Amino acid sequence: MEIIIRPTPAHAAKLVARLVANRVRAKPELVLGCATGRTMDPVYAELVAAHRSGGLDLSRITTFNLDEYVGLAPDDERSYHHYMRTHLFEPVGLAPERTNLPNGSAHDLAGEARAYEARIAAHGGIDLQLLGLGVTGHIGFNEPLSSLMSRTREKALAPETRQQNAGLFGGDAEAVPKRALTMGVGTILDAREIVMLVTGETKADVLAAATEGPITARISATALQLHPRCIVVADEAAARSLEGTSYYRFLYAEEPEWAPYRDDPEL
Ligand code: GLP
Repeated sequence: MEIIIRPTPAHAAKLVARLVANRVRAKPELVLGCATGRTMDPVYAELVAAHRSGGLDLSRITTFNLDEYVGLAPDDERSYHHYMRTHLFEPVGLAPERTNLPNGSAHDLAGEARAYEARIAAHGGIDLQLLGLGVTGHIGFNEPLSSLMSRTREKALAPETRQQNAGLFGGDAEAVPKRALTMGVGTILDAREIVMLVTGETKADVLAAATEGPITARISATALQLHPRCIVVADEAAARSLEGTSYYRFLYAEEPEWAPYRDDPEL
């Protein structure tokens, strides 16, 4: 794992978007794992801007999203299907058949989960998985005590998670669905590369627990410590509770891999 600390959420999101863009340029048919949530808004906005300026062709990628609420139809405005269509897929002209999200309104949710895993495998697995971090320390909707080897399945949402995600539901946590279909922790760890973006001081303690604390199923993001290529990008506010920051800053300043990024004042 590597942790990159940038001054503001905008810098952090731009760095993540630049990283995605560079991976797509290197492999135009990239299989991209997408995350939803407010943290990701500026990342998708940056990718859309890069597409509009003619500097990035996203038309050949395939996407797989982490999760979807159970009971919401794909055309429901509160669904993650809708979020992805409006924030990324339609603005960059990505054909619907290249986009994949679990169907939370499927009649047979267990069958849908199995089919989703099979579809990921049929595409050769995920090249780059984007992640946010939930207040409970979840990745996807892998709530506390999710097996660190879990696969796509239905999960009950923690009250804190329903509260965190109430924004799309008129601010009413009770209106947030109680269950979701989510990739498992094991599914996420199968991605060849993982980039987690974490911004804001409300995430500071959970980010420190996720990256510097012991691996535990209580915090599914701690499983990322086992991944051979996981990059965490945080803004200063989210990095506030980390203990190892001087070493993390040293690595970003020194590692040749980051030279093109650190020389750009926007990132
Ligand atoms: C939801 C999603 C997660 C996401 C989290 C963070 O719970 N299932 O994938 O990381 O929200 O949300 P936000 O970025 O709005 O803080």
